[in-house]
Amino acid sequence: MPSATFQFPKGFLWGTATAAHQVEGGNTNNNWYKWEQEGHTAHKSGLASDWWGGRWKEDFDRAAESGQNAHRLSVEWSRIQPTPDRWDEEALERYRSMLRGLRDRNITPMVTLHHFTDPLWLEELGGWETSQVVPLFEKYVRKVVEALKEYCTLWCTINEPNVYNIEGYIRRNFPPGKSDIKLGLQVQANMVRAHAVAYRLIHQLQPETRVGYALHFRPQEPFHRWSPLDRLMRNVKFEAINLAFPSAISTGVMRSPLGNVRVPEAKGTQDFFGLNYYSVDTVAFDLRKPGELFSRSFFPAGADLADAGMNSNTPDGFFWAFKWAVKTYPNLPILVTENGIEDSTDRLRPRYLAQHVHAMWRAVNFNWPVKGYFHWSLVDNFEWERGWTQRFGLWALDIETQQRTKRPSADLYAAICKENGLSSGMVQKYCPEVYSKLFPG
Ligand code: BGC
Repeated sequence: MPSATFQFPKGFLWGTATAAHQVEGGNTNNNWYKWEQEGHTAHKSGLASDWWGGRWKEDFDRAAESGQNAHRLSVEWSRIQPTPDRWDEEALERYRSMLRGLRDRNITPMVTLHHFTDPLWLEELGGWETSQVVPLFEKYVRKVVEALKEYCTLWCTINEPNVYNIEGYIRRNFPPGKSDIKLGLQVQANMVRAHAVAYRLIHQLQPETRVGYALHFRPQEPFHRWSPLDRLMRNVKFEAINLAFPSAISTGVMRSPLGNVRVPEAKGTQDFFGLNYYSVDTVAFDLRKPGELFSRSFFPAGADLADAGMNSNTPDGFFWAFKWAVKTYPNLPILVTENGIEDSTDRLRPRYLAQHVHAMWRAVNFNWPVKGYFHWSLVDNFEWERGWTQRFGLWALDIETQQRTKRPSADLYAAICKENGLSSGMVQKYCPEVYSKLFPG
């Protein structure tokens, strides 16, 4: 049996990612709280993982003990600015102590400024649908960066603007639960504008900073490669899901199937490409689905599916995502801002993790500038409209007792972080079923 280690470059960032509303608990002043009270979610977030109650300390201890040297978290706009004319200094102080807590543990923080939730007052003003959100976001970003820059030089402006748009304005899983593609396009354009303004502002406040956003990048495959209709549908979906933000940042023109939008100020506004990668979709032409652009997305027979069937284990798509990123943004550092799988029993996560780390290692060995990886997630947390039905944590969470239980994947990830690589011994121990795939011969 071959024995080897897929080694990563010195200084590689190994971390986990979380988001405020999903871990903090007790967020009662944002649009998601309202959405939960209205009954749109499988469960309510409640205490979540109780970070606002102080349990971030024990979770950061876990991260540090398992060799993680980076963590991506988000701050909650509705806590920091509870009303348009009031800042909550105590909330900012709490975030300062969290970031200090990371630094004390030798963990590099990345702060996300917007991760799906909006203050209720902003929603009442029309949220991201009107361009008045841009100066409001700018004001909020100034306040946050001034307060936290002592501890953070790595900023993510907006998490997954494409998911915010698709889930909130097409699928109606997220607030505001509308079905209006045109309005969704407007929302995305305002997000591009707000991102560009934030990018410049953060650089002005903190010259040594690095700023990006996180794109949910979902590769699409035609069901039958020989079918021109499947290929056409694949291309339409690929563009509609993935390309709005990247095109705006590459060219200053936001591409969309409904028409392009000029946002010249967005061109070049990222210092790294933030990649959230989970899975690949297969796309087939389907006349019965006019609402989905005459196509259907699914996982093919035999896919290595997770608990809820929301993601499948497709590490080749991860490699392909790097290839796409390098082609789109030559020489720009790439940070994997999220990657993970819903798997409460951890039957699939070890091989998902090993195979994705391996795909990333292949990318690194092409000399592609992949600089870090944030696994989603450190501990089980509130999964939006799916409530507590999906578990992404390296540590399991009992929401009644708040007790954490380590999953085997946590040990595998700790071994990877500490070794700065993935070894044949790790694969043999945690996911022997993929050993011959990763170490053939
Ligand atoms: C989001 C996270 C979410 C994860 C798993 C990503 O799209 O950024 O907030 O928990 O997917 O569903």
